[in-house]
Amino acid sequence: MSDKNNLACIILAAGKGTRMKSDHPKVMHKLGGRPIISWILSAVERLSPEKIVTVVGPEMEALDEIVSPHETVIQKNRNGTADAVRQAMPRLEGFEGHVLILLGDMPFIQTQTLEKLISDCAGDNKAGLGVLGANLENPDGYGRLITGPDGYLKRIVEDKDASPEEKRFTLVNTGAFCVQGAHLADWLAQIDNDNAQQEYYITDLPAIAEREGYKTRIMVCSDPEEVMGVNSREQLAELEQTFQSAFRRKAMAEGVTLRDPETVYFSFDTKLGRDVEIGPNVVFGPNVEIADNVIVHPFCHLEGVAVGKESSIGPFARLRPGSQLGEKTRIGNFVEVKNSSLGDGAKANHLSYIGDSELGERVNFSAGAITVNYDGFDKHRTTIGKDAMIGCNANLVAPVEIGEGAYIAAGSTITENVPADALSVARNRPIIRDQWAARKRKNRKKQVKN
Ligand code: UD1
Ligand code: MG
Repeated sequence: MSDKNNLACIILAAGKGTRMKSDHPKVMHKLGGRPIISWILSAVERLSPEKIVTVVGPEMEALDEIVSPHETVIQKNRNGTADAVRQAMPRLEGFEGHVLILLGDMPFIQTQTLEKLISDCAGDNKAGLGVLGANLENPDGYGRLITGPDGYLKRIVEDKDASPEEKRFTLVNTGAFCVQGAHLADWLAQIDNDNAQQEYYITDLPAIAEREGYKTRIMVCSDPEEVMGVNSREQLAELEQTFQSAFRRKAMAEGVTLRDPETVYFSFDTKLGRDVEIGPNVVFGPNVEIADNVIVHPFCHLEGVAVGKESSIGPFARLRPGSQLGEKTRIGNFVEVKNSSLGDGAKANHLSYIGDSELGERVNFSAGAITVNYDGFDKHRTTIGKDAMIGCNANLVAPVEIGEGAYIAAGSTITENVPADALSVARNRPIIRDQWAARKRKNRKKQVKN
């Protein structure tokens, strides 16, 4: 694709996102487990542009971190999309290649589509500008592309400014533009705010380019889903469904069984092996990798975990970030694992908490046993050697090490390291009083009679 030194990209993300009714920047809202802006960034990064500048609003520092290592520039007063592009111009000083301008609220845009937009524009010597269009069944809310008899774009009319006749046009502006960098600053300077919203619209560029003797080429995107924008919570939910449905279909096509596909939720980066079976109502947060032949039973929540092949998870299990499960591990009902590793064949079948721990191969972590990893200030680690047997309802008070093959008696609270192959019992001996209960019942009866 395009020469690295010939392309720069500006992403507009300073809008208030008024229709989201949110205290957070619109592009920070998550879709498929990651912020909207990150979807666009990853499509753009694959073009290897010389620069990616994201225009953000004041008090949107959170965005700096997400777009890093790329730069951000602040648009102080949100006076419209053209004003936003202007703020980025000082960062493109002296740049004469093509500038790709994208709206930050278009998460599904694909790299190949952008490549085509740039190459169409660059390959047409009449065109000073290229616009990505799409034919939408319901074009409400979008700017409409008005073409001239020569097939080039004449102008873009915003939905709010469109006449009833123009509103019927279904070819819309997706918001993606490709402009010859040498002209951009000059054309931007000519944009005014004489429109319904009194904003400086980037969509005025084609009319200005025409005045300056340049045509605007339209490239129509074949898949309208790629260019859907997020402007409201409802649209966010619709796009989430689009992503989930596509992911489910892809997973099944690649050899994953989904018992009830509609109830399983994935993240953008979920990795699933072959012959994985997933029951109903399972949620995958970011960064989950499941190896071949694993079964995830119903009602599980997984995030930041790698699960080794032939393991069995759930029902009702919670696997949290920083965890690694070996092959043939078994995590049963009401078990939580956080920031821990389990060796091959290790088991925690019922009602356990395993946090900040390392369990060797074949460790049996019995019902109700937990690691006591937090002292109110700091987290501490528990290490359990292979083949150890942790009895029911044991509390392992970290930091603590249990040697290989050791036994921990049920109900013990372990506060000292246990050597390999030893037994540690840390509970009171039972006291048995013969006939105590019978006597109590008898006394009780006497009291009632009196
Ligand atoms: C915009 C287009 C419209 C197009 C639609 C596609 C304009 C004027 N309109 O409308 O033609 O059909 O997208 O989804 O461009 N932004 C800033 N600073 C501002 C205003 C907006 O950075 O001052 C950013 C927003 O953060 C957002 C993007 O620009 O990421 C688009 O703004 P939005 O308000 O969503 O425009 P639309 O009404 O969707
Ligand atoms: Mg929008």
